Amino acid sequence: MCGIVAAAARREVSEILLEGLRRLEYRGYDSAGMALVDNEHNLQLHKQQGKVCELEKAQAMRPLLGCTGIAHTRWATHGEPSAVNAHPHISGQRLALVHNGIIENHAALREQLIAQGYEFTSATDTEVVVHLLHSFLLQGNPLLAAMQETVCLLEGAYALAVVDIEHPDEVVAARKGSPLVVGVGIGENFLASDQLALRQVTDRFIFLEEGDVVQISPSSLQIFDESGNPVERARTMISAAVEVADLGGFDHYMLKEIHEQPRALAATFAQSAALPAADDCFGAGAAAVFDRVRAVQIVACGTSFHAGMVARYWLEELAGIPCQVEVASEFRYRKRVTRPDTLLVTISQSGETADTLAALRNAGADEFIASLVISNVDNSSLVRDSDLVFLTRAGMEIGVASTKAFTTQLVGLLLLTLALGRRGAMTEQKQQEVMVALQGLPDYVQQTLELDSAIERLSGAFIPRHHALFLGRGIQYPIAMEGALKLKEISYIHAEAYPAGELKHGPLALVDDDMPVVAVAPSDDLLEKLKSNLEEVRSRGGELYVFADRQAGFVSEARVHVLPMPHCPEVIKPIVYTVALQLLSYHVALQKGTDVDKPRNLAKSVTVE
Ligand code: AGP
Repeated sequence: MCGIVAAAARREVSEILLEGLRRLEYRGYDSAGMALVDNEHNLQLHKQQGKVCELEKAQAMRPLLGCTGIAHTRWATHGEPSAVNAHPHISGQRLALVHNGIIENHAALREQLIAQGYEFTSATDTEVVVHLLHSFLLQGNPLLAAMQETVCLLEGAYALAVVDIEHPDEVVAARKGSPLVVGVGIGENFLASDQLALRQVTDRFIFLEEGDVVQISPSSLQIFDESGNPVERARTMISAAVEVADLGGFDHYMLKEIHEQPRALAATFAQSAALPAADDCFGAGAAAVFDRVRAVQIVACGTSFHAGMVARYWLEELAGIPCQVEVASEFRYRKRVTRPDTLLVTISQSGETADTLAALRNAGADEFIASLVISNVDNSSLVRDSDLVFLTRAGMEIGVASTKAFTTQLVGLLLLTLALGRRGAMTEQKQQEVMVALQGLPDYVQQTLELDSAIERLSGAFIPRHHALFLGRGIQYPIAMEGALKLKEISYIHAEAYPAGELKHGPLALVDDDMPVVAVAPSDDLLEKLKSNLEEVRSRGGELYVFADRQAGFVSEARVHVLPMPHCPEVIKPIVYTVALQLLSYHVALQKGTDVDKPRNLAKSVTVE
């Protein structure tokens, strides 16, 4: 989390830095700051609690000027969100530094620095880095060498950028475990956590490698690897016109992104037909890897983990492939026993999630036959580190609550099921059925979007509630989990999901007339079982909100509210029902007046542990 932007130019850079921060706000938004070196080589600083708009106001009141600068939007790890803890952090009235990541040995370093006479003003882990740098500068090191000395002492994850009034044209930066990209300009150079922040000024980028240290000035750009050797890194052109983040007439990005799903799903599915062989959409060499796969291990976090949970049903039931699914933060630290010929599948919208990346990087040398990532961001760390890649074509997702990324991940996972199923348990006819269902998917999603007003009417009942239960059975259980996550994430209503058969083993005790119970209840093999579970809820005074197609046979009556869903092929029901639950959360949050696109305490890209 946290977003970094930096510039070394021959023109004023404050507006470039602010625009970069606006584009990076998805990485954190509890405080923001900016430091510039002005023409007289003075350090100029703004730090504000709150969103980037607070920093803009400070800049409007007291404009900072300068051609060299760094800026930061924060998601607090160490130290509460406040102006004091906001970055940049300062040392010796000459250095200013911004950081994304966590310095794990900050406590020990802090003690050493205090012993040397440094005074700390913040509660952050970051402040040790700026004082360390300062101590190396005092020993006579140039800024670059001071950074190289400093990073040798750091444990944890970092992207760092620093300016120094004694080196007024330079920004020096380093990365390990947190992303950093160089934007190459003409007579100016830039740095950022994500190339999106710099699309306004350049279309040429260098994605730094682990351990790299970089020095930029308006006229120069030098990269050094972890051992201090100068290195050339590949330059990538990314068209500046690829995507523009605007609301397109919607009130929120989340709503816009929910409505973009028919197009995003169609574009993601179209990849499988656009290439000469069906497996090519997973990258070169996919066919040879898939021939050997006997089991799948899926690793992901949050919503992406729910996509993995859905995929387990598809992979085992349709393709006959044993599949394990685990959250990355647990998987990465667990001693595991992995079946022979297992494919590691990571799922990540951003491609930068620290736990998922660590899970991939920590996988044993011979543990998996290959790694495949399903991601929405080309050039992301997970994409660059994986053997095979399936890119979802969701387009930029800005709302913190993941919507179109999730449903397009499911399309990717269904295509993977087909790819593996074709080699084993799946009949030609079943493959054909799945393909036809995928072709029809955008239409079913569109029909669901047209239920918006009915879902909005239903949502009113949730506003005064503090808790909600989401129930599903079989493949709809992870969809209930995703529905509950969406509701708690943006409306702050405590929501839990259960496989409906588990209710009687404890959670049924929670049910009373104050507990809305949402049921994901399409007509399927487990419907009658689910109906019995819902009767248990009703007979204890629970109020039911049932998402079901007509074939499921539910009727609205006292304390039972049925939302009529389109009847669609079984295999795509998890995707179609998800869309209705997204709209439910959106309308609840909207009426509660929460910040739908930037819910409290969260960030879009979780690049810390
Ligand atoms: C979803 O609404 C969340 N914002 C969150 O759970 C997210 O899915 C998770 O942090 C994983 O992110 P990733 O897909 O970018 O790896």
